[in-house]
Amino acid sequence: MSALCNKIGLVTGAGQGIGRAIALSFAREGAKVVVADFNEEMGQQTVELITKAGGTASFIYGDISKEDTVKTTVDFVLTTYGRLDIACNSAAVSRGSGPIHEYERSIFDQTLEMCLTNTWLCMKYEIAAMLKNGGGAIVNISSNASLRGQAFNTAYATAKGGVNILTKSAAAEYGSKGIRINAVSPGVILTPGLEQYFEEQPDKAEGLRKKSVMNRLGAPEEIADAVSFLSSDRASFITGQILSVDGGGSVR
Ligand SMILES: NC(=O)c1ccc[n+]([C@@H]2O[C@H](COP(=O)([O-])OP(=O)(O)OC[C@H]3O[C@@H](n4cnc5c(N)ncnc54)[C@H](O)[C@@H]3O)[C@@H](O)[C@H]2O)c1
Repeated sequence: MSALCNKIGLVTGAGQGIGRAIALSFAREGAKVVVADFNEEMGQQTVELITKAGGTASFIYGDISKEDTVKTTVDFVLTTYGRLDIACNSAAVSRGSGPIHEYERSIFDQTLEMCLTNTWLCMKYEIAAMLKNGGGAIVNISSNASLRGQAFNTAYATAKGGVNILTKSAAAEYGSKGIRINAVSPGVILTPGLEQYFEEQPDKAEGLRKKSVMNRLGAPEEIADAVSFLSSDRASFITGQILSVDGGGSVR
């Protein structure tokens, strides 16, 4: 039997990149999936990819850094499929990088909102839904930027550090209620966003490749496999963990 057979799943930021790969993996493993994104065209494309492959998926549009949107999104899952079993909070946007002493407070605040507060909001409503059906599994997408700190990327790194401790705290809070909560921390993953960055700054590619001990970039599907495993009953005794999927970048 497939690992996520009969599960109902939600993936935020599933319009492209890592989130899309996670939605496709959930569906391949047998889950029915709600794809949430504020890019309508790309979100619909993800649904098409899933349905063409024989899976079941629905799209919901909205900015999940806004509480009313998150509530609507989780309500949509419940009215469409009856319950929520697994959720992956992948949506995140960094609003900018640069030295702290020249950094705008508004950019710092927005980055926290789009990378950390959104994750907390999603968990708030996902957990409430999961409590109604006796449990579930949540995987948050962190980043290796959270592990050692990252110069000139302090807002994003701080937000993702917050995602890690939020994950652990929530796991401690809801373990006894049957909800497992973990995070996956990607290394450098070749997504459309990174491809565009390499086109603009081709000299950066080699340095990023060397961040992994395998001297290569990761693929979105390699993150998705880890998320599907953590979401499945095969990970039934794993909670509160931050799993780096980074080709060994964190031990370099
Ligand atoms: N790509 C990498 O190398 C890398 C490394 C470490 C961590 N990550 C993390 O992985 C996750 C996915 O990254 P990616 O590279 O695939 O990103 P991406 O920019 O390619 O895709 C992000 C998707 O999320 C959507 N989105 C963002 N904020 C949203 C919001 N508030 N509401 C609704 N939709 C929203 C975007 O429209 C987009 O479809 C993020 O959490 C990111 O921080 C990525």
